[in-house]
Amino acid sequence: MGKHILITGASRGMGHDGALYLADQNHLVSAVARSRKPLSRLENQHENIAAYPTDLTDSGDLDRLVQNLENDQPSIDAIINGAGALVNKPFTELTSSDWDLMLDTNLRAPVDLIQKTLHLMSDDGHIVNISSMAGYQGSAKFPGLTAYSVAKGGLSILTECLAGELADQDISCNALCLGMVQTEMLEDAFPGIDAPVSSEQMGQYIGDFALNGHTFYNGQVLPVAREDPE
Ligand SMILES: NC(=O)c1ccc[n+]([C@@H]2O[C@H](COP(=O)([O-])OP(=O)(O)OC[C@H]3O[C@@H](n4cnc5c(N)ncnc54)[C@H](OP(=O)(O)O)[C@@H]3O)[C@@H](O)[C@H]2O)c1
Repeated sequence: MGKHILITGASRGMGHDGALYLADQNHLVSAVARSRKPLSRLENQHENIAAYPTDLTDSGDLDRLVQNLENDQPSIDAIINGAGALVNKPFTELTSSDWDLMLDTNLRAPVDLIQKTLHLMSDDGHIVNISSMAGYQGSAKFPGLTAYSVAKGGLSILTECLAGELADQDISCNALCLGMVQTEMLEDAFPGIDAPVSSEQMGQYIGDFALNGHTFYNGQVLPVAREDPE
């Protein structure tokens, strides 16, 4: 058996496709999201995938996840923080619950998951935070994506901080700032939009990066887009 990868946001989109790709490469995948049905379909689809239905913004749920991982797969080689949410709304209309959703899902959940699973990470472990060009410093910003962009920008800075904090533990941390990828999230936010990259393509790229990217990068916030803005 290869490495053990914990991937969040695995019920659909890139997290789902990345999980299948890694499992096909003979790695063991712990797949996390809230929706039970798609997760158990994923688990049944591949013997290398174990599903852990979890709301990452719920501390009780998160504690149960960590306990289950401790029992089932005590050593984690890579964490892919792929779970995310997007609100597309003008700044003046953003409510405090919009801000809570954006910050809790896109920033606090990765913070809490990383903090609570650090003791399980193996030497030479790799944390990959899935950020966005929308939160990349200096990129063209879309109106309507302020709360999302701010949260993703925070995730990118978290990445730089953790690379310093975790260096002694031999754990690397990088962020991938993705351009547009054809997924439900994109289609919900921008109906009819045509992205240059498919979910399968990006799932594969993220999977490969989680396995190998830390040989070349640490503490890096990397744009993954052919053009700006994308
Ligand atoms: N698509 C793009 O163009 C694009 C561009 C840049 C960055 N990104 C980022 O890439 C990542 C994947 O995006 P995607 O397009 O594949 O999105 P997606 O299809 O909407 O999938 C989002 C995933 O996050 C999970 N999730 C959301 N809230 C959660 C919570 N509280 N606890 C656990 N899981 C939760 C969802 O599962 P449940 O609903 O089952 O919980 C789902 O599996 C996201 O972080 C997104 O911000 C996407």
